[in-house]
Amino acid sequence: MRDCYQRKITYLRVSVTERCNFRCFYCRPREGGACSGSDIPLGHVVRVVEAGTLVGIRKVRLTGGEPLVRKDITEITASIAGMDGIDDVALTTNGSLLRRYAPALHQAGLRRVNISLDTLKPDRFQRITCNGRFEETWDGIEAALEYGLHPVKLNTVVMRNVNDDEILDFVRLTERLPLHVRFIEVMPIGKSSKTAKGQLVTAEEIRQKLDSEYSNPEPIKSVGGDGPARYWKVPGAPGTVGFIAPLSGYFCDSCNRLRLTSSGTLRPCLCQGDELDLNEALNRGADRAELAALIAEAITRKPRGHADDTIEPVVDRLMSQIGG
Ligand code: GTP
Ligand code: 5AD
Ligand code: SF4
Repeated sequence: MRDCYQRKITYLRVSVTERCNFRCFYCRPREGGACSGSDIPLGHVVRVVEAGTLVGIRKVRLTGGEPLVRKDITEITASIAGMDGIDDVALTTNGSLLRRYAPALHQAGLRRVNISLDTLKPDRFQRITCNGRFEETWDGIEAALEYGLHPVKLNTVVMRNVNDDEILDFVRLTERLPLHVRFIEVMPIGKSSKTAKGQLVTAEEIRQKLDSEYSNPEPIKSVGGDGPARYWKVPGAPGTVGFIAPLSGYFCDSCNRLRLTSSGTLRPCLCQGDELDLNEALNRGADRAELAALIAEAITRKPRGHADDTIEPVVDRLMSQIGG
């Protein structure tokens, strides 16, 4: 179905849990913060996705929090992958549990993953994630490659004086392995709403670093998936370098998505607090047609997006609750 700006909405992002085994400083609060640990029940996810197919949802991304901390993640994946009308199921994960889950997820019908990785330095990794181990996430990335969860994309949020000295190291990685590194501009959402502005490194600046070392990166039309990234490739490299530039490269005009939060609300736009609560309908046992009508209403409520050159700080929710 199309929204009021003629955008076709085909993609549902589901934050299956706000829990995470990492605490990246820009994403989640420390213990005792706003995290209530809520998970959306498996049955609710399945019913919302089924209803979504009636209004044109074709692609689902499972995200969080960290989706793999849920014991039933394989079951959730299998239920969605086997659904009529759904032709793409993907996962966004921090990778630390992926070695353990990759075989079962592949078996369940998962075909591709996006893995968050902000640094290639183990000590820095531990500082950014609070308690994560680089080796575990790297092992998860290798598992994704081994199980053919292609394209394997890495999400690298670039932050000034945090990891902006590693841009070329990430580019070199794409020369060695079939990985699609996406440099992401940090957005003022949740925990990072106060710090993001000062830490912003624009896609343009990252691009200049790339150009300082490589004279002829080639534009690539798509590497699979239909998110907002734009991709380039160093000649001869098995991987690519992508840019996700919500601030300097406004992409709301081609927005194709809706979000289901870990607390059972539909969020028409990442950057705006308006949400439609499905809990009452779900708990009462609303049928597919009624849920589809609520999803259609959420699509109708999608705003044009954020302003062209700025995102107002989003403080009503954490990124982990919305799911990115
Ligand atoms: P594919 O291209 O299909 O693989 O997915 P994706 O890039 O949409 O998914 P992913 O979960 O890996 O998101 C990567 C980054 O893009 C995250 O930082 C998201 O917050 C950001 N992002 C995804 N969708 C939107 C969006 O609609 N608006 C904005 N501003 N940022 C988004
Ligand atoms: N700005 C940009 N990207 C973010 N992510 C989490 N918080 C932010 C933020 N403030 C990214 C994570 C993950 C993806 C779903 O969102 O790194 O890869
Ligand atoms: Fe879509 Fe809102 Fe993201 Fe813009 S900010 S791309 S409208 S979800």
